[in-house]
Amino acid sequence: MSEEPRGDGPDEASASEDAAAIQRHREEVLEHAEVTRIERYEDYLLVADEVVAGYVPEVNILDRCTLTLSEGEVVAVIGPNGAGKSTLIKTIFGLIPVREGALALRGRSIANCAAHELVSLGVGYVPQTQNVFPTLSVEENLEMGVFLRPKTFRERFDAVSALFPLLGERRRQKAGALSGGERQMLAMGRALMMDPSVLLLDEPTAGLSPIYQDDVFQRVKQINAAGVSVVMVEQNARRCLQICDRGYVLDQGRNAYTGTGAELLHDPNVIELYLGTLAKA
Ligand SMILES: Nc1ncnc2c1ncn2[C@@H]1O[C@H](COP(=O)(O)OP(=O)(O)OP(=O)(O)O)[C@@H](O)[C@H]1O
Ligand SMILES: [Mg+2]
Repeated sequence: MSEEPRGDGPDEASASEDAAAIQRHREEVLEHAEVTRIERYEDYLLVADEVVAGYVPEVNILDRCTLTLSEGEVVAVIGPNGAGKSTLIKTIFGLIPVREGALALRGRSIANCAAHELVSLGVGYVPQTQNVFPTLSVEENLEMGVFLRPKTFRERFDAVSALFPLLGERRRQKAGALSGGERQMLAMGRALMMDPSVLLLDEPTAGLSPIYQDDVFQRVKQINAAGVSVVMVEQNARRCLQICDRGYVLDQGRNAYTGTGAELLHDPNVIELYLGTLAKA
């Protein structure tokens, strides 16, 4: 029987040297990264301009983080664990206060708008975890999505179940009985019940098998084709960059790289620092 390599073997040592080199290179990139200046907020559907935000007083997780979303786009947000991707989405959705910088929707400030106000303004959010009510049925979950406009339930239910037929078929089933992939569909369906113009998705493919992951990416394209602009945080960075229009690489709450999906996918630095096997360490 062959022995497993020991943690302190030569391979391990050189892997950790490589990881340290990658870390140093990332720091250099962040030092020199230039954040695009945004001239006119009204030119975009959604703007986060040099946003500073965090959870604990005086600890900034987002450090002048910038993102724009134009009408009709799918924009990806990728980066290492702890980079601040979820924090960015939560800040846009009013769950974390903005300390500095600006947030605008169609040119109008939404900095520190409450989440329910953003929902009324046409922003939908699907959190990374705990994004369905497991003890409620599929239909009740969808009703929760439209509680601000209950009269539209029937019409929206029809529209959402046309996009996700499974939700119509399983409407009476408890959400807790759905598979991981089906729950993700329900979570997206719930956010779509308010007919949003912007959808914020936080790692919709996390924990799903490759087939379900692909299904989610296809659905996102379908949702986008139906007129919804999308900001999508993803751990499956390569696949996400293939389907998005533009992407942002975040690291330590800052913008490391920005470009079209194709540009980022083929940028040797992005590959080495953020898409390679070691880069994920
Ligand atoms: N509720 C919280 N209170 C305090 N700190 C938090 C909280 N949530 C996240 N953080 C910290 O903020 C930083 C960014 O976390 P965030 O969840 O935004 O990262 P992420 O890029 O989404 O990572 P992942 O890929 O693991 O989802 C981390 O250092 C994390 O420890
Ligand atoms: Mg996250």
